[in-house]
Amino acid sequence: MATEQDVLRALAGIQDPDLHRDIVSLGFIKELKVHGSEVAFDIVLTTPACPVRDQMKAQAEQLVLGLPGVKTVVVTMKAEVRAGRRLGDEKLAPSVKNIVAVASGKGGVGKTTVAVNLAVALAQLGAKTGLLDADVTGPNVPLMMGLRDPQISQIDGKITPPENYGVKVISIAFFVKQDEPVIWRGPMVHSAIVQFFSDIAWGDLDYLVIDLPPGTGDASLTLAQSVPVTGVVMVTAPSNAAAMDVSKAIKMFEKLNAPVLGVVENMSSFACPHCGRETDIFGGSGGDEMAAKFNIPLLGQIPLHASVATGGNIGYPIVASDPDSPQGRAFRKLAETVAARVSVASTRLLPVLT
Ligand SMILES: Nc1ncnc2c1ncn2[C@@H]1O[C@H](COP(=O)(O)OP(=O)(O)OP(=O)(O)O)[C@@H](O)[C@H]1O
Ligand SMILES: [Mg+2]
Repeated sequence: MATEQDVLRALAGIQDPDLHRDIVSLGFIKELKVHGSEVAFDIVLTTPACPVRDQMKAQAEQLVLGLPGVKTVVVTMKAEVRAGRRLGDEKLAPSVKNIVAVASGKGGVGKTTVAVNLAVALAQLGAKTGLLDADVTGPNVPLMMGLRDPQISQIDGKITPPENYGVKVISIAFFVKQDEPVIWRGPMVHSAIVQFFSDIAWGDLDYLVIDLPPGTGDASLTLAQSVPVTGVVMVTAPSNAAAMDVSKAIKMFEKLNAPVLGVVENMSSFACPHCGRETDIFGGSGGDEMAAKFNIPLLGQIPLHASVATGGNIGYPIVASDPDSPQGRAFRKLAETVAARVSVASTRLLPVLT
């Protein structure tokens, strides 16, 4: 007859591909029960967005069924996102487990598009997700999330964030009149960003994605200094000029101790809407070079495709409207990779910058 120890020894043969340790010493095995020839347990992953989930389940079943005397195995896959910040101790948004900022050096490289699709993809994968538009002077998130004029309600003096595609969203655009120019000075940007945390009822979130304005201005500084950011996703487009500016921004976040999770190359190739063929129209990839130069991971490559822009314009992100298109799949894969990097950062088993 197999014992609990036998089962754990067998399961220790499975490695987590991101954390590079076996799933038993990582504490993933919960509720282990052995009754005669029947074995049951949960595998609790650190993110619901785990691409090897089914593979891990099959491997666990196979290993335990290989033990003498075991006839049936019931494996239940679960996920519990680990916190990359001290929950409860934090004054700002104490129940938000991980804050992921999306930044770039240069404007117009697709930060907001990446932030929106990343947030929706994380929610689709089963994570509790929020999206904060920290671009106070050019807030584009409401338009891209199909939330142009949402009903805003308050409970106990805190604002409830409106929701779409399973993502809770807050933007300054919800609170200022449309078409009214807002002139922001540094301290105002600072207090707006802090209020986005202190006055909003975010509730329990696995990931709060933040869309930053371009460059290294007030919002980026305030954010990195006043809220513990789990990690920064840098967005670049394949042109050298864009790459230069991104390298400046990477250096700034490094100085402020906000770990850079990696770089996303957006508009990396042109996918022809007629034949689907991809062409490298910019001739060369800024993302690869950047990743190599700064020794940070390339988190993903998103093709340039008209449907991505249309999705933004009509407030129906491509991961929701056409998840199986190459660009929808690229965003979903990006979400899985970002979730894995966040697990690594929050588990603190590996340095984020190697
Ligand atoms: N992969 C893509 N394929 C096609 N169009 C894209 C793609 N990514 C972004 N775009 C388009 O490029 C434009 C700029 O994108 P976006 O607004 O997301 O950039 P940004 O970096 O947030 O800009 P800003 O610096 O002004 O905040 C938008 O019109 C958007 O729809
Ligand atoms: Mg933007």
